Amino acid sequence: MAFVRSVLRSLVGIIVLPVTILQYIGFWDPLYKRFFPYLMRRMTTTINDKMDKVKKKLFDRLPDFASSSGLTVLEVGCGTGANFQYYPWGCKVICTDPNPNFEHLLRSSGAESTHLKLERFVVACGENLSQVASGSVDAVVCTFVLCTAQNVDAVLKEIKRVLRPGGAFFFIEHVAADKETWLHFIQHVIQPAWRYFGDGCYPTRDTSANLEKANFSELNLKHIIAPLMSLIKYHIVGYAVK
Ligand SMILES: C[S@@+](CC[C@H](N)C(=O)[O-])C[C@H]1O[C@@H](n2cnc3c(N)ncnc32)[C@H](O)[C@@H]1O
Ligand SMILES: *[C@@H]1O[C@H](CO)[C@@H](O)[C@H](O)[C@H]1NC(C)=O
Ligand SMILES: *[C@@H]1O[C@H](CO)[C@@H](O)[C@H](O)[C@H]1NC(C)=O
Repeated sequence: MAFVRSVLRSLVGIIVLPVTILQYIGFWDPLYKRFFPYLMRRMTTTINDKMDKVKKKLFDRLPDFASSSGLTVLEVGCGTGANFQYYPWGCKVICTDPNPNFEHLLRSSGAESTHLKLERFVVACGENLSQVASGSVDAVVCTFVLCTAQNVDAVLKEIKRVLRPGGAFFFIEHVAADKETWLHFIQHVIQPAWRYFGDGCYPTRDTSANLEKANFSELNLKHIIAPLMSLIKYHIVGYAVK
């Protein structure tokens, strides 16, 4: 089976060879990164529709982590600001994303969300949040981001650094299917194509393992099957307290 899987995966690799070449000569990424924010904005409507209950239940806990000066939330890989509608009244939000092309869509979501204050947008990878001070935020939020990050452990380390003691990291991420399933097989086979059309996303990651070894003092993690594309239906949802 492993052999068949490798052959099929190579086949997919050959089919997307033209894209690999475009990527190699530096054409693909700049083009796709311009287009992706619009795709993401379209998908957000569907995702928020289908994940509404999950998001509501999760983000209802945000106010528990407010400090005496209120609640400051840092979004890592903020995209278009899909989670703004779930944030409590009066909260301050700092947004980071490595793709600067999200900025105008994010700012328009910020302007529409009169219940919160978008303090700043920082162009940065989650692996290097040096523009955010240590211990300066009450909560960090990542939704559908760790599947794409280059180095998940480094992102989690940065998240822990910027959180104040007792602050919490909220996450919703899709994760790999069980190893013995067909879905896992398919996730492996399509990976070489998926990364180009999913902005570098890996469907085969087991992000819960990274969270477990990140040494948060408390980890509340649930495995759910999300009503999204069946290819990425397995998700983890929860929060980890520093
Ligand atoms: C699928 S989108 C999700 C956007 C948004 N969080 C949402 O839920 O709608 C993935 C986002 O992660 C960002 N991203 C990619 N690599 C990243 C990294 N290393 N660190 C932080 N964000 C990253 C992308 O630019 C993109 O905005
Ligand atoms: C992290 O990002 C800052 C700018 O935001 C940059 O000056 C610094 O060199 C980066 N650090 C690493 C290790 O890449
Ligand atoms: C977690 O804690 C253990 C034991 O204290 C330590 O060995 C390990 O390096 C820590 N891991 C991280 C990612 O901080």
